[in-house]
Amino acid sequence: MAGTNTATTTAAVMAEILELDAEVLGTYLSELTTWLGELSDREPVRIVDLGSGTGTGAIALARRFPRAEVSAVDVSPQMLHRLSVKASGPGLADRVRGVQADLDQGRPALPTSDLVWAAAVLHHLADPDRVLSHVFDALRPGGLVAITEMDFFPRFLPEDIEVGRPGLEARVHDAFKGAPDAGWTDHLVRAGFTPEAERPFVIDLPAPLPDATARYAQACLRKLRSHLDGQLPAEDLAALDAVTDDEGPHGVLRRDDLTVRTTRTTWVGRRP
Ligand SMILES: C[S@@+](CC[C@H](N)C(=O)[O-])C[C@H]1O[C@@H](n2cnc3c(N)ncnc32)[C@H](O)[C@@H]1O
Repeated sequence: MAGTNTATTTAAVMAEILELDAEVLGTYLSELTTWLGELSDREPVRIVDLGSGTGTGAIALARRFPRAEVSAVDVSPQMLHRLSVKASGPGLADRVRGVQADLDQGRPALPTSDLVWAAAVLHHLADPDRVLSHVFDALRPGGLVAITEMDFFPRFLPEDIEVGRPGLEARVHDAFKGAPDAGWTDHLVRAGFTPEAERPFVIDLPAPLPDATARYAQACLRKLRSHLDGQLPAEDLAALDAVTDDEGPHGVLRRDDLTVRTTRTTWVGRRP
């Protein structure tokens, strides 16, 4: 039972980050969906969002393409529940459908599609190439797959904050950094796609930002903190705890000078 509770808590934390992410980064999402419309050979009417989470992509796509039906595939019932609540409003309820499936197991039944969107999910999968070949089969000739990944976790803090040594956030990111990502073009080619475009989206939002930014910063920094025991000097960990504290004087929730700096890259492939 403890395992189930931990999984539920992890999903709840991730869901909160995804929803704040959508709230804070709305402009970037709008740019990305507009660009996909420009790359499409005709208006997409069948769309699949793989690893949809709480529905950020599915809902943005349903709004961008008002004739489209969107299938949002995710392994997590909690994510799909949030998606169904968000998509329950007028104009969306009959067009956005959650599909629970584990992409690491078998081949979920996907409709023949014009566009498959996979944001921040392929790196979670055991065998992304197998899933991409399944996506290839699900797309009509001329259809697009759009893979988006975050180049690095967003940064929020000024260089010199009142707690700890200057440069805390840079050291946190250095300690967290995984292996460099070689990108997705080769994966697309292996699955049979013609690489169509690769576009970095540089996100650099200056202060002052909406209130959700502080909660987003806190959630992201807490997520990083959960991986960093033993990876940083105790002084930095203590400073990070102070920065992510709900009540303390140094917590991000009290700051009005937060910015958001991050980069996401989208790779687009076309089925010949
Ligand atoms: C980082 S979230 C990204 C969510 C969403 N695409 C977004 O950008 O907001 C990754 C999502 O992939 C889902 N996921 C991870 N492994 C999966 C699998 N094997 N099959 C289906 N979904 C999976 C998770 O449940 C989670 O919702």
